[in-house]
Amino acid sequence: MNQKIPSTLLFVTSNPNKELEVRKILNKNGVSFQHMDANYQEIQSSSLKTIAAESARCLYEQLKNPLFLEDSGLFIEQLGGFPGPYSSYVYKTIGNSGVLKLMSNIGNRTSRFESVVAYAENHKNIHLFSGIVSGRIADKKRGKGWGFDPIFIPGNCDETYAEMGIESKQRVSHRYIAFTKFSDWFKTNG
Ligand code: IMP
Repeated sequence: MNQKIPSTLLFVTSNPNKELEVRKILNKNGVSFQHMDANYQEIQSSSLKTIAAESARCLYEQLKNPLFLEDSGLFIEQLGGFPGPYSSYVYKTIGNSGVLKLMSNIGNRTSRFESVVAYAENHKNIHLFSGIVSGRIADKKRGKGWGFDPIFIPGNCDETYAEMGIESKQRVSHRYIAFTKFSDWFKTNG
């Protein structure tokens, strides 16, 4: 008998905070996956979609297994969308204090968080799902949270992502929007 061995869907990320948030969203939506804790090489591009798609394609070539990953970024309007695709580098180098310093004389603090999920079904079929949340940069760090959570205030809220805590963040976040689109699609097409 020619029995097909089911392959496990992998989520590749070295960020435990992302893994926790994504697990909560996908568990609730009935999509199971296995976490693979790995760093991967990202190409340079001004587009999160291009970065996510190329990373997923390269990883599929290496692992030969269906997988998904997420690329996200914080885009500040008055800084021309900076740090955007360079968010990770900016966070590691100047951090939240550095971003607040750059914004010190800027009144319009409009910004957005974007998430792009790239699902590699195989090396040819890469499916993308995005989530965008508009908001603003706080005047100072507020609350305890990872990454830019202490300085990003979503939508019309008064609290930063960090002050909201994970359960409330999960109801409004860029990640929640992107992964809900992915799981809705995956349940019928995956
Ligand atoms: P990446 O998607 O891992 O490349 O994330 C880019 C940068 O944005 C990293 O420095 C993350 O810490 C930060 N980041 C991504 N998503 C979030 C979030 O939900 N909250 C706070 N920071 C985030």
